[in-house]
Amino acid sequence: MKLTLLVAAVALCLPAGGAWGQGTNPKAPALSLALQKGRDNAVKYCAACHLLPEPDLLTKTAWAHHVQPEMAKWLGIERVDYEGMQDGKLLQEAALFPNAPLLSEEEWFSIWDYYRALAPSRPVPPPAKPPVTVGSKQFRVKKLNPHESAPMTSMVKIDSAAKRIYFGDAFSGQLFALGAEGGLISRMRLKSGPVSLTVGDKGLIVTQIGRLFPSDAQEGVVEFIPKEGSESAAKVLASGLRRPVNTMVAHLNTDIREDLVVCSYGNRLGRFSWFEAKEDGGYDEHVLLERPGSIQAEVRDINGDGRQDIIVMTAQAREAIHVFLNMGRNEFKMETWLERPPSWGFVGFELVDFNKDGKTDSAGGQRRQRRLRAPDEGVSRCATLSQRRAEWFSRGDVLSDARRLQGDGARFRWRR
Ligand code: HEC
Repeated sequence: MKLTLLVAAVALCLPAGGAWGQGTNPKAPALSLALQKGRDNAVKYCAACHLLPEPDLLTKTAWAHHVQPEMAKWLGIERVDYEGMQDGKLLQEAALFPNAPLLSEEEWFSIWDYYRALAPSRPVPPPAKPPVTVGSKQFRVKKLNPHESAPMTSMVKIDSAAKRIYFGDAFSGQLFALGAEGGLISRMRLKSGPVSLTVGDKGLIVTQIGRLFPSDAQEGVVEFIPKEGSESAAKVLASGLRRPVNTMVAHLNTDIREDLVVCSYGNRLGRFSWFEAKEDGGYDEHVLLERPGSIQAEVRDINGDGRQDIIVMTAQAREAIHVFLNMGRNEFKMETWLERPPSWGFVGFELVDFNKDGKTDSAGGQRRQRRLRAPDEGVSRCATLSQRRAEWFSRGDVLSDARRLQGDGARFRWRR
Protein backbone atom coordinates (compact mmCIF):
# COMPACT_ATOMS: atom_id res chain seq x y z
CA MET A 1 0.00 0.00 0.00
CA LYS A 2 1.33 3.36 -0.88
CA LEU A 3 0.67 5.80 1.86
CA THR A 4 -0.13 8.87 -0.15
CA LEU A 5 -1.61 10.99 2.57
CA LEU A 6 -0.84 10.68 6.21
CA VAL A 7 -3.52 13.07 7.25
CA ALA A 8 -5.02 12.02 10.56
CA ALA A 9 -5.03 8.41 9.51
CA VAL A 10 -5.92 6.58 12.69
CA ALA A 11 -7.70 3.42 11.77
CA LEU A 12 -7.01 -0.09 10.85
CA CYS A 13 -8.45 -0.79 7.50
CA LEU A 14 -10.26 -4.03 7.90
CA PRO A 15 -12.01 -5.21 4.84
CA ALA A 16 -14.77 -7.25 6.40
CA GLY A 17 -14.66 -11.00 5.95
CA GLY A 18 -15.90 -13.16 3.17
CA ALA A 19 -14.04 -13.30 -0.06
CA TRP A 20 -13.61 -9.57 -0.23
CA GLY A 21 -10.21 -8.54 0.84
CA GLN A 22 -9.40 -11.80 2.55
CA GLY A 23 -7.54 -12.98 -0.48
CA THR A 24 -8.55 -16.57 -0.09
CA ASN A 25 -10.59 -18.41 -2.59
CA PRO A 26 -11.69 -21.73 -1.15
CA LYS A 27 -14.07 -22.38 -4.02
CA ALA A 28 -11.45 -21.80 -6.69
CA PRO A 29 -11.92 -24.13 -9.65
CA ALA A 30 -9.21 -26.60 -10.57
CA LEU A 31 -6.63 -24.82 -12.69
CA SER A 32 -5.54 -25.70 -16.19
CA LEU A 33 -1.94 -26.80 -16.49
CA ALA A 34 -0.83 -23.39 -17.79
CA LEU A 35 -2.58 -21.49 -15.02
CA GLN A 36 -1.25 -23.89 -12.39
CA LYS A 37 2.23 -23.15 -13.69
CA GLY A 38 1.48 -19.45 -13.31
CA ARG A 39 0.36 -19.96 -9.73
CA ASP A 40 3.46 -22.04 -8.94
CA ASN A 41 5.63 -19.25 -10.29
CA ALA A 42 3.72 -16.67 -8.24
CA VAL A 43 4.32 -18.77 -5.12
CA LYS A 44 7.98 -19.06 -6.02
CA TYR A 45 8.69 -15.43 -6.92
CA CYS A 46 6.02 -13.18 -5.45
CA ALA A 47 6.08 -14.55 -1.93
CA ALA A 48 9.74 -13.68 -1.55
CA CYS A 49 9.02 -10.14 -0.38
CA HIS A 50 5.49 -10.26 1.01
CA LEU A 51 2.61 -12.67 1.45
CA LEU A 52 1.34 -14.16 -1.78
CA PRO A 53 -1.62 -12.05 -2.84
CA GLU A 54 -4.60 -14.04 -4.11
CA PRO A 55 -6.11 -13.00 -7.47
CA ASP A 56 -9.50 -12.04 -6.02
CA LEU A 57 -7.98 -9.21 -4.01
CA LEU A 58 -7.94 -6.93 -7.02
CA THR A 59 -9.59 -6.61 -10.42
CA LYS A 60 -8.15 -7.85 -13.70
CA THR A 61 -7.44 -4.26 -14.72
CA ALA A 62 -5.68 -3.47 -11.46
CA TRP A 63 -3.44 -6.52 -11.76
CA ALA A 64 -2.55 -5.74 -15.36
CA HIS A 65 -2.23 -1.97 -15.27
CA HIS A 66 -1.15 -1.20 -11.77
CA VAL A 67 0.54 -4.13 -10.08
CA GLN A 68 2.33 -5.74 -13.03
CA PRO A 69 4.25 -2.60 -14.08
CA GLU A 70 5.12 -1.82 -10.44
CA MET A 71 6.38 -5.31 -9.64
CA ALA A 72 8.33 -5.42 -12.93
CA LYS A 73 10.85 -3.11 -11.27
CA TRP A 74 11.15 -5.28 -8.16
CA LEU A 75 11.84 -8.41 -10.18
CA GLY A 76 14.33 -6.80 -12.55
CA ILE A 77 12.05 -7.21 -15.57
CA GLU A 78 11.90 -3.52 -16.28
CA ARG A 79 14.97 -1.35 -16.30
CA VAL A 80 14.57 1.33 -13.69
CA ASP A 81 15.02 4.90 -14.85
CA TYR A 82 16.62 6.28 -11.69
CA GLU A 83 17.23 9.62 -13.36
CA GLY A 84 13.58 10.28 -13.98
CA MET A 85 12.48 8.99 -10.61
CA GLN A 86 11.81 10.96 -7.47
CA ASP A 87 14.68 10.30 -5.03
CA GLY A 88 16.23 8.22 -7.85
CA LYS A 89 19.76 8.88 -6.66
CA LEU A 90 18.96 7.65 -3.16
CA LEU A 91 17.34 4.50 -4.53
CA GLN A 92 20.24 3.83 -6.88
CA GLU A 93 22.73 4.18 -4.03
CA ALA A 94 20.66 1.76 -1.98
CA ALA A 95 20.73 -0.69 -4.96
CA LEU A 96 17.07 -1.26 -4.31
CA PHE A 97 15.97 -2.86 -7.56
CA PRO A 98 17.78 -5.81 -9.18
CA ASN A 99 19.56 -4.87 -12.40
CA ALA A 100 18.95 -8.21 -14.13
CA PRO A 101 15.73 -10.25 -14.39
CA LEU A 102 15.19 -12.71 -11.51
CA LEU A 103 13.00 -14.95 -13.67
CA SER A 104 12.49 -15.81 -17.35
CA GLU A 105 10.07 -13.93 -19.53
CA GLU A 106 7.96 -17.06 -19.82
CA GLU A 107 7.67 -17.40 -16.05
CA TRP A 108 6.90 -13.70 -15.71
CA PHE A 109 4.03 -13.77 -18.18
CA SER A 110 2.64 -17.01 -16.79
CA ILE A 111 2.18 -15.24 -13.44
CA TRP A 112 0.16 -12.43 -14.96
CA ASP A 113 -1.91 -14.78 -17.12
CA TYR A 114 -2.82 -16.52 -13.88
CA TYR A 115 -3.78 -13.32 -12.06
CA ARG A 116 -5.75 -11.97 -15.00
CA ALA A 117 -7.61 -15.23 -15.56
CA LEU A 118 -8.69 -15.64 -11.94
CA ALA A 119 -9.25 -12.05 -10.88
CA PRO A 120 -12.79 -10.66 -11.00
CA SER A 121 -13.64 -8.01 -13.61
CA ARG A 122 -15.20 -5.80 -10.97
CA PRO A 123 -14.22 -5.57 -7.30
CA VAL A 124 -15.84 -8.22 -5.13
CA PRO A 125 -18.35 -6.15 -3.14
CA PRO A 126 -17.94 -5.98 0.61
CA PRO A 127 -20.77 -7.41 2.70
CA ALA A 128 -23.77 -5.11 3.12
CA LYS A 129 -23.62 -2.81 6.08
CA PRO A 130 -25.93 -0.20 7.61
CA PRO A 131 -25.61 3.29 6.15
CA VAL A 132 -23.34 5.74 7.90
CA THR A 133 -25.35 8.17 9.99
CA VAL A 134 -24.23 11.74 10.21
CA GLY A 135 -24.61 13.77 13.38
CA SER A 136 -24.17 13.12 17.06
CA LYS A 137 -26.23 13.62 20.19
CA GLN A 138 -23.28 14.38 22.43
CA PHE A 139 -21.21 16.65 20.23
CA ARG A 140 -21.58 19.88 18.35
CA VAL A 141 -19.22 20.63 15.51
CA LYS A 142 -17.04 23.68 15.93
CA LYS A 143 -14.79 24.73 13.09
CA LEU A 144 -11.22 25.52 14.02
CA ASN A 145 -8.95 27.11 11.50
CA PRO A 146 -6.57 29.53 13.10
CA HIS A 147 -4.46 30.07 10.03
CA GLU A 148 -5.15 31.49 6.62
CA SER A 149 -3.83 28.96 4.14
CA ALA A 150 -5.61 25.80 3.04
CA PRO A 151 -5.76 23.39 5.98
CA MET A 152 -3.70 20.22 5.86
CA THR A 153 -4.20 18.77 9.32
CA SER A 154 -1.48 16.25 9.99
CA MET A 155 -1.97 15.56 13.68
CA VAL A 156 -4.42 15.98 16.54
CA LYS A 157 -3.60 15.37 20.18
CA ILE A 158 -5.75 16.05 23.20
CA ASP A 159 -3.95 16.77 26.46
CA SER A 160 -6.84 16.12 28.88
CA ALA A 161 -4.86 17.00 32.00
CA ALA A 162 -4.05 20.47 30.72
CA LYS A 163 -7.36 20.77 28.82
CA ARG A 164 -5.61 21.48 25.56
CA ILE A 165 -5.94 20.43 21.99
CA TYR A 166 -2.82 20.36 19.90
CA PHE A 167 -3.04 20.13 16.20
CA GLY A 168 -0.52 20.22 13.43
CA ASP A 169 -0.69 21.59 9.94
CA ALA A 170 1.62 20.11 7.37
CA PHE A 171 1.06 22.77 4.73
CA SER A 172 2.39 25.58 6.90
CA GLY A 173 4.53 23.38 9.17
CA GLN A 174 2.89 24.74 12.30
CA LEU A 175 1.77 23.37 15.63
CA PHE A 176 -1.23 25.02 17.29
CA ALA A 177 -2.37 24.75 20.89
CA LEU A 178 -6.02 25.46 21.62
CA GLY A 179 -7.77 25.88 24.96
CA ALA A 180 -10.87 24.01 26.11
CA GLU A 181 -13.11 26.58 24.39
CA GLY A 182 -11.22 26.30 21.13
CA GLY A 183 -9.36 29.60 21.48
CA LEU A 184 -5.82 29.77 20.17
CA ILE A 185 -3.23 29.64 22.97
CA SER A 186 -0.08 29.37 20.94
CA ARG A 187 1.30 28.67 17.51
CA MET A 188 4.74 27.43 16.67
CA ARG A 189 6.48 27.33 13.34
CA LEU A 190 8.35 24.07 12.97
CA LYS A 191 10.80 22.58 10.49
CA SER A 192 8.03 20.65 8.75
CA GLY A 193 4.59 19.18 9.39
CA PRO A 194 4.11 17.75 12.90
CA VAL A 195 2.67 14.22 12.82
CA SER A 196 3.17 12.82 16.31
CA LEU A 197 3.42 14.44 19.72
CA THR A 198 4.15 13.38 23.29
CA VAL A 199 3.37 15.70 26.17
CA GLY A 200 6.01 15.42 28.89
CA ASP A 201 6.67 17.23 32.19
CA LYS A 202 9.19 19.58 30.68
CA GLY A 203 7.74 20.06 27.24
CA LEU A 204 6.66 18.40 24.03
CA ILE A 205 8.39 15.84 21.88
CA VAL A 206 7.26 16.54 18.33
CA THR A 207 7.88 14.35 15.30
CA GLN A 208 8.12 16.32 12.07
CA ILE A 209 7.75 14.38 8.87
CA GLY A 210 9.97 16.27 6.45
CA ARG A 211 8.12 15.62 3.19
CA LEU A 212 4.49 14.72 3.68
CA PHE A 213 3.98 12.94 0.37
CA PRO A 214 5.74 9.63 -0.44
CA SER A 215 9.44 10.28 -0.40
CA ASP A 216 12.74 8.82 0.70
CA ALA A 217 14.29 12.17 1.55
CA GLN A 218 15.88 12.24 4.99
CA GLU A 219 14.33 15.46 6.20
CA GLY A 220 12.37 14.36 9.26
CA VAL A 221 13.25 15.19 12.86
CA VAL A 222 12.16 14.46 16.40
CA GLU A 223 12.42 17.67 18.41
CA PHE A 224 12.02 18.60 22.04
CA ILE A 225 10.09 21.85 22.50
CA PRO A 226 10.12 23.22 26.07
CA LYS A 227 6.99 24.37 27.87
CA GLU A 228 6.14 28.04 27.57
CA GLY A 229 8.00 30.10 30.12
CA SER A 230 10.65 27.43 30.57
CA GLU A 231 14.34 28.25 30.63
CA SER A 232 15.46 25.35 28.47
CA ALA A 233 15.84 25.60 24.72
CA ALA A 234 14.34 23.58 21.92
CA LYS A 235 16.55 20.67 20.89
CA VAL A 236 16.57 18.26 17.96
CA LEU A 237 16.81 14.74 19.43
CA ALA A 238 17.01 12.80 16.17
CA SER A 239 17.47 14.12 12.65
CA GLY A 240 17.96 12.91 9.08
CA LEU A 241 14.93 10.65 9.48
CA ARG A 242 13.08 9.22 6.48
CA ARG A 243 9.54 10.47 6.71
CA PRO A 244 9.02 9.65 10.39
CA VAL A 245 5.35 9.28 11.32
CA ASN A 246 5.29 8.17 14.94
CA THR A 247 7.51 8.42 18.02
CA MET A 248 6.99 6.74 21.38
CA VAL A 249 8.86 7.82 24.47
CA ALA A 250 9.77 4.84 26.68
CA HIS A 251 12.24 3.32 29.11
CA LEU A 252 13.73 0.41 27.22
CA ASN A 253 16.75 -0.29 29.39
CA THR A 254 17.72 0.01 33.03
CA ASP A 255 18.91 3.60 33.08
CA ILE A 256 16.59 6.44 34.04
CA ARG A 257 16.79 8.22 30.72
CA GLU A 258 13.88 8.18 28.32
CA ASP A 259 14.53 6.45 25.03
CA LEU A 260 12.65 6.94 21.77
CA VAL A 261 10.98 4.46 19.42
CA VAL A 262 10.67 5.96 15.94
CA CYS A 263 8.71 4.75 12.91
CA SER A 264 10.44 6.15 9.84
CA TYR A 265 7.85 5.14 7.27
CA GLY A 266 9.83 6.44 4.30
CA ASN A 267 8.58 5.17 0.97
CA ARG A 268 10.83 2.61 -0.68
CA LEU A 269 13.46 3.00 1.98
CA GLY A 270 12.79 3.62 5.65
CA ARG A 271 13.34 1.84 8.94
CA PHE A 272 12.04 1.14 12.39
CA SER A 273 14.46 1.97 15.19
CA TRP A 274 14.85 2.88 18.79
CA PHE A 275 17.12 5.62 20.00
CA GLU A 276 18.98 4.97 23.21
CA ALA A 277 19.35 8.07 25.36
CA LYS A 278 22.99 8.58 26.36
CA GLU A 279 24.40 10.28 29.40
CA ASP A 280 25.71 13.23 27.39
CA GLY A 281 22.20 14.06 26.13
CA GLY A 282 22.72 12.44 22.73
CA TYR A 283 21.05 9.34 21.29
CA ASP A 284 22.37 6.12 19.71
CA GLU A 285 20.18 4.61 17.02
CA HIS A 286 19.47 0.85 17.12
CA VAL A 287 17.72 -0.43 14.00
CA LEU A 288 14.99 -2.98 14.68
CA LEU A 289 13.65 -3.39 11.15
CA GLU A 290 15.54 -2.24 8.09
CA ARG A 291 12.61 -1.64 5.79
CA PRO A 292 10.00 1.00 5.08
CA GLY A 293 6.40 1.15 6.19
CA SER A 294 6.46 1.19 9.99
CA ILE A 295 3.46 3.29 10.83
CA GLN A 296 2.69 2.99 14.52
CA ALA A 297 4.37 1.58 17.60
CA GLU A 298 3.21 0.94 21.14
CA VAL A 299 5.32 0.05 24.13
CA ARG A 300 4.03 -2.47 26.71
CA ASP A 301 5.32 -5.28 28.84
CA ILE A 302 3.75 -8.04 26.77
CA ASN A 303 5.10 -11.10 28.59
CA GLY A 304 5.20 -9.81 32.14
CA ASP A 305 8.96 -10.00 32.57
CA GLY A 306 9.19 -6.42 33.76
CA ARG A 307 10.77 -5.15 30.56
CA GLN A 308 9.07 -2.92 28.04
CA ASP A 309 8.41 -4.64 24.71
CA ILE A 310 7.57 -2.96 21.43
CA ILE A 311 4.62 -3.65 19.15
CA VAL A 312 4.77 -2.20 15.66
CA MET A 313 2.49 -2.13 12.66
CA THR A 314 4.04 -2.10 9.21
CA ALA A 315 2.56 -1.36 5.81
CA GLN A 316 4.39 -1.18 2.43
CA ALA A 317 4.60 -4.70 1.06
CA ARG A 318 4.81 -6.60 4.35
CA GLU A 319 1.61 -5.52 6.02
CA ALA A 320 2.00 -6.87 9.51
CA ILE A 321 2.06 -6.51 13.26
CA HIS A 322 5.37 -7.45 14.78
CA VAL A 323 6.39 -7.64 18.39
CA PHE A 324 9.91 -6.97 19.61
CA LEU A 325 10.39 -8.74 22.90
CA ASN A 326 12.85 -6.93 25.10
CA MET A 327 15.50 -9.48 26.11
CA GLY A 328 17.43 -6.96 28.21
CA ARG A 329 20.83 -5.44 27.49
CA ASN A 330 19.47 -3.57 24.48
CA GLU A 331 18.52 -6.78 22.68
CA PHE A 332 15.16 -7.50 21.11
CA LYS A 333 13.65 -10.65 19.62
CA MET A 334 11.17 -10.21 16.80
CA GLU A 335 7.92 -12.15 16.49
CA THR A 336 5.35 -11.65 13.74
CA TRP A 337 1.84 -11.77 15.13
CA LEU A 338 -0.16 -11.06 12.06
CA GLU A 339 0.52 -10.63 8.37
CA ARG A 340 -1.68 -9.60 5.47
CA PRO A 341 -1.14 -9.41 1.70
CA PRO A 342 0.51 -6.28 0.25
CA SER A 343 -2.69 -4.64 -0.99
CA TRP A 344 -4.20 -4.65 2.50
CA GLY A 345 -3.63 -1.12 3.76
CA PHE A 346 -2.93 -1.16 7.48
CA VAL A 347 -2.85 2.27 9.08
CA GLY A 348 -3.17 1.88 12.82
CA PHE A 349 -4.06 -0.29 15.79
CA GLU A 350 -4.92 -0.04 19.41
CA LEU A 351 -4.27 -2.38 22.32
CA VAL A 352 -7.41 -2.97 24.35
CA ASP A 353 -8.35 -5.01 27.36
CA PHE A 354 -11.23 -6.95 25.86
CA ASN A 355 -12.01 -9.13 28.84
CA LYS A 356 -11.76 -6.14 31.18
CA ASP A 357 -9.39 -7.81 33.59
CA GLY A 358 -7.48 -4.60 33.98
CA LYS A 359 -4.43 -5.92 32.28
CA THR A 360 -4.36 -3.84 29.18
CA ASP A 361 -1.45 -1.68 30.04
CA SER A 362 0.44 -3.84 32.44
CA ALA A 363 1.92 -7.24 31.99
CA GLY A 364 -0.92 -9.71 32.02
CA GLY A 365 1.54 -12.54 31.84
CA GLN A 366 -0.07 -14.23 28.92
CA ARG A 367 -0.48 -12.91 25.50
CA ARG A 368 -3.86 -14.55 25.38
CA GLN A 369 -5.35 -11.76 27.41
CA ARG A 370 -4.27 -9.21 24.94
CA ARG A 371 -6.58 -8.40 22.15
CA LEU A 372 -5.85 -6.21 19.26
CA ARG A 373 -8.72 -3.97 18.60
CA ALA A 374 -9.03 -2.73 15.16
CA PRO A 375 -9.32 0.96 14.75
CA ASP A 376 -10.06 4.08 16.56
CA GLU A 377 -13.36 5.86 17.00
CA GLY A 378 -15.13 7.47 14.13
CA VAL A 379 -15.24 6.94 10.46
CA SER A 380 -12.13 5.69 8.92
CA ARG A 381 -11.06 5.74 5.39
CA CYS A 382 -9.52 2.74 3.86
CA ALA A 383 -7.83 3.25 0.58
CA THR A 384 -6.31 0.32 -1.17
CA LEU A 385 -4.45 0.23 -4.38
CA SER A 386 -3.42 3.84 -4.47
CA GLN A 387 -6.85 5.29 -3.91
CA ARG A 388 -8.48 3.29 -6.66
CA ARG A 389 -10.81 1.61 -4.31
CA ALA A 390 -11.82 3.43 -1.19
CA GLU A 391 -14.25 2.14 1.38
CA TRP A 392 -15.84 3.96 4.23
CA PHE A 393 -16.47 2.25 7.51
CA SER A 394 -18.77 3.57 10.17
CA ARG A 395 -17.79 3.31 13.80
CA GLY A 396 -20.23 0.43 14.17
CA ASP A 397 -18.54 -1.55 11.43
CA VAL A 398 -15.22 -0.90 12.91
CA LEU A 399 -16.24 -2.12 16.32
CA SER A 400 -17.97 -5.19 14.99
CA ASP A 401 -14.83 -5.95 13.03
CA ALA A 402 -12.91 -5.62 16.23
CA ARG A 403 -15.07 -8.24 17.84
CA ARG A 404 -14.16 -10.64 15.09
CA LEU A 405 -10.55 -10.50 16.08
CA GLN A 406 -9.67 -13.34 18.30
CA GLY A 407 -6.28 -13.98 19.78
CA ASP A 408 -4.91 -17.47 19.94
CA GLY A 409 -1.62 -17.11 21.67
CA ALA A 410 1.16 -15.86 19.51
CA ARG A 411 -1.01 -15.34 16.45
CA PHE A 412 -4.29 -13.71 15.72
CA ARG A 413 -6.90 -15.16 13.49
CA TRP A 414 -10.21 -14.09 12.13
CA ARG A 415 -13.34 -15.50 13.62
CA ARG A 416 -16.02 -15.86 10.98
C1 HEC B 1 11.70 -7.84 -4.45
C2 HEC B 1 10.51 -7.74 -3.64
C3 HEC B 1 9.15 -7.98 -4.28
C4 HEC B 1 8.77 -9.03 -5.07
C5 HEC B 1 9.59 -10.21 -5.54
C6 HEC B 1 7.36 -8.80 -5.35
N1 HEC B 1 6.92 -7.68 -4.73
FE1 HEC B 1 4.98 -7.01 -4.71
N2 HEC B 1 5.57 -5.42 -3.56
C7 HEC B 1 6.86 -5.16 -3.16
C8 HEC B 1 6.90 -3.89 -2.47
C9 HEC B 1 8.12 -3.25 -1.84
C10 HEC B 1 5.57 -3.39 -2.48
C11 HEC B 1 5.05 -2.08 -1.84
C12 HEC B 1 5.59 -0.87 -2.47
C13 HEC B 1 5.24 -0.71 -3.90
O1 HEC B 1 4.03 -0.78 -4.26
O2 HEC B 1 6.17 -0.49 -4.69
C14 HEC B 1 4.78 -4.39 -3.16
C15 HEC B 1 3.42 -4.26 -3.36
C16 HEC B 1 2.63 -5.21 -4.00
C17 HEC B 1 1.20 -5.12 -4.12
C18 HEC B 1 0.34 -3.99 -3.57
C19 HEC B 1 0.26 -2.87 -4.55
C20 HEC B 1 -0.54 -1.69 -4.04
O3 HEC B 1 -0.35 -0.61 -4.61
O4 HEC B 1 -1.33 -1.82 -3.10
C21 HEC B 1 0.80 -6.22 -4.81
C22 HEC B 1 -0.64 -6.58 -5.15
C23 HEC B 1 1.97 -7.00 -5.13
N3 HEC B 1 3.08 -6.37 -4.61
C24 HEC B 1 1.98 -8.16 -5.87
C25 HEC B 1 3.13 -8.85 -6.24
C26 HEC B 1 3.16 -9.97 -7.16
C27 HEC B 1 1.96 -10.58 -7.84
C28 HEC B 1 4.46 -10.36 -7.25
C29 HEC B 1 5.04 -11.47 -8.12
C30 HEC B 1 5.01 -11.21 -9.53
C31 HEC B 1 5.24 -9.49 -6.40
N4 HEC B 1 4.41 -8.58 -5.81
C32 HEC B 1 6.61 -9.63 -6.18
C33 HEC B 1 7.95 -5.97 -3.33
C34 HEC B 1 7.99 -7.13 -4.07
